[in-house]
Amino acid sequence: MQIIKKANELTEIINELKKEGKKIGLVPTMGALHRGHKSLIDAARKDCDIVVVSIFVNPIQFGENEDFDKYPRNFEKDKLVCKEAGCDIIFNPEPQEMYADYKKEASLKENLKIKEEFYTIKVPTKYTNKLCGKSRPDHFNGVCTIVLKLFNIIKPNVAYFGQKDIQQLIIIKNMVKSLNINTKIQGCPIVREESGLALSSRNSYLTESQKEKASTIFKVLSNIELMFNEGFTNKNEIFEQSKKLLHKDIEIEYLEVCDINTLDYSEKILHNSFVAIAAKIDNIRLIDNVVLS
Ligand code: PAJ
Repeated sequence: MQIIKKANELTEIINELKKEGKKIGLVPTMGALHRGHKSLIDAARKDCDIVVVSIFVNPIQFGENEDFDKYPRNFEKDKLVCKEAGCDIIFNPEPQEMYADYKKEASLKENLKIKEEFYTIKVPTKYTNKLCGKSRPDHFNGVCTIVLKLFNIIKPNVAYFGQKDIQQLIIIKNMVKSLNINTKIQGCPIVREESGLALSSRNSYLTESQKEKASTIFKVLSNIELMFNEGFTNKNEIFEQSKKLLHKDIEIEYLEVCDINTLDYSEKILHNSFVAIAAKIDNIRLIDNVVLS
């Protein structure tokens, strides 16, 4: 397994592999890898000749008051996860490699000014004015910018994204269509703890007792799915019933039904929609969703 820190070096390696006709799979991550990430690497391993995992905590997708500084970083453990999963190349650039003007010693606030200095992706408002975009207004612009940079460096045939971040997945699918990017976007199912709690790098912020309370988020979603399968379609009725299952210490930021392709809100719970939730426990923000097919 190779560990590459320079974009040019990686592009050269990829160009050679492409000449040999190899199919390249990319799994973009921010590290602190868990079984959810591993499931994406496994999917790539099955489909592709070469599996690249990028590990980069992307500063420009964090807000000034978010958790960029304390975001979990554990490269040694990540290396082991990647190696065991059969990854061929880890791409682990420094922030300065991805954003030339980034200053290591400066605060995030200071560094976010670099966004004015180079080209970024502007995601259409209709995708960013809802769900997570409401409380994280510049987040998806930052995500799409780094993902496009990774696509340009690695030119993957397929890139793997988790359905856990469903708004991100849909926005990236639409970016690829909109900008004629020659990469297939493969969505992968959510990996959960036995309790139902969706795995997330941010779960490391939770104590065992908070995790137990947080697992009621999945109970709410499961009940919504159950009622939908039983034939209920009235959103308010389904939501009111299901919200009773949420632990009292958890505060809902949003609970919405959206169209799976357009992200448009829906008043009715329908096939081809998904129900997404963001909720806070002691100020730790968690997201989850269920797709209704
Ligand atoms: P990160 O949060 O590290 O997630 C990397 C990928 O793993 C994403 O596609 C995410 O949806 C997927 N993932 C996370 N938890 C999962 C779970 N429980 N089950 C299945 N997949 C899961 O998402 C990002 O990083 C960044 O925004 C990134 C796309 C790398 C751009 O910086």
